[in-house]
Amino acid sequence: MDYILETHELTKIYGQKEAAKDVSLHIREGQIYGLIGRNGAGKTTIMRMISGLSAPTRGSYSLFGKTGAEMRKELRNVGVLIEHPGLYPRLSAYENLKIKCLGMGIKPEGYVDELLKLIGLEATDRKKPAGAYSLGMRQRLGIGLALIGDPRILILDEPINGLDPQGIVEVREILSRLRDEKGITIMISSHILDELSKLADAYGIIHEGTLLDEFSVEELHKRTEQYVLIRTEDDAAAVKALNGIGIKAIDPQHDGLRITERMDETPAMAKAIVGAGVGLRELSEHTFSLEDYYLGVTGGKHNG
Ligand SMILES: Nc1ncnc2c1ncn2[C@@H]1O[C@H](COP(=O)(O)OP(=O)(O)OP(=O)(O)O)[C@@H](O)[C@H]1O
Ligand SMILES: [Mg+2]
Repeated sequence: MDYILETHELTKIYGQKEAAKDVSLHIREGQIYGLIGRNGAGKTTIMRMISGLSAPTRGSYSLFGKTGAEMRKELRNVGVLIEHPGLYPRLSAYENLKIKCLGMGIKPEGYVDELLKLIGLEATDRKKPAGAYSLGMRQRLGIGLALIGDPRILILDEPINGLDPQGIVEVREILSRLRDEKGITIMISSHILDELSKLADAYGIIHEGTLLDEFSVEELHKRTEQYVLIRTEDDAAAVKALNGIGIKAIDPQHDGLRITERMDETPAMAKAIVGAGVGLRELSEHTFSLEDYYLGVTGGKHNG
């Protein structure tokens, strides 16, 4: 089994609207897979189908390498948090979790306490009614509910949406702990690309219902260049000066000289150029972000 979760030309049509069109995505075990796309791109539509909450118009998906009826049995190994978690507002986190455990026939001693620890809800929070929770606490409780039954895959639709920076960090830590310590595979959608890029191991870009691109972090790094940009008053002399300190990977481009080796040695580069009496106009580090890449693929505007 190459992929723990895979879709095959998964399509959902609402009326005339192709909300998801021939989506074939591939998620490896133990990965955090980020599904990215703007509002209305089709993220929730795809996640609802994979979670068994809505039927595909066409196409299929497989879980743990199984399809059809065999696959449907595996849905119990999938934990889902899509849109807002259904919480009982008057009940505490403990009681909310306990009720779902009972509903699923899970009653080992200490199970709920373990869950509360995992989602970082402290003793005082545990007694508070869920209706009085902050959004961040509600999301964490939602993740806790999705974890009941020890799923091997978690599907989380925009779990960091609307959270403050602290809340985002907390959810990020919980998710990386679930991956690293429990080996849980996580599919997460978000349009906060900067945050997602600190967490995900692979990505799928969804745009107008179509999966435009799919890549691992390693592939992203290979595809996106990083360089130091140097603009001077005499590029030929600057190249000579840089060669003098052993820097050879210099690519003259329309915007200046692009250096692609020893990129952490910008002070030495500046010193060599200025030391050779060459006027230095600019020396800047360029790293290519997930956001830049995303905008490039979806045809959005670059801001740099
Ligand atoms: N039940 C429905 N009936 C009709 N159209 C729908 C339905 N659900 C979704 N759509 C349409 O399908 C498209 C994809 O919607 P979807 O909710 O999957 O996008 P999304 O990527 O999750 O967006 P967001 O970031 O806003 O959550 C949208 O154009 C939406 O209006
Ligand atoms: Mg959505």
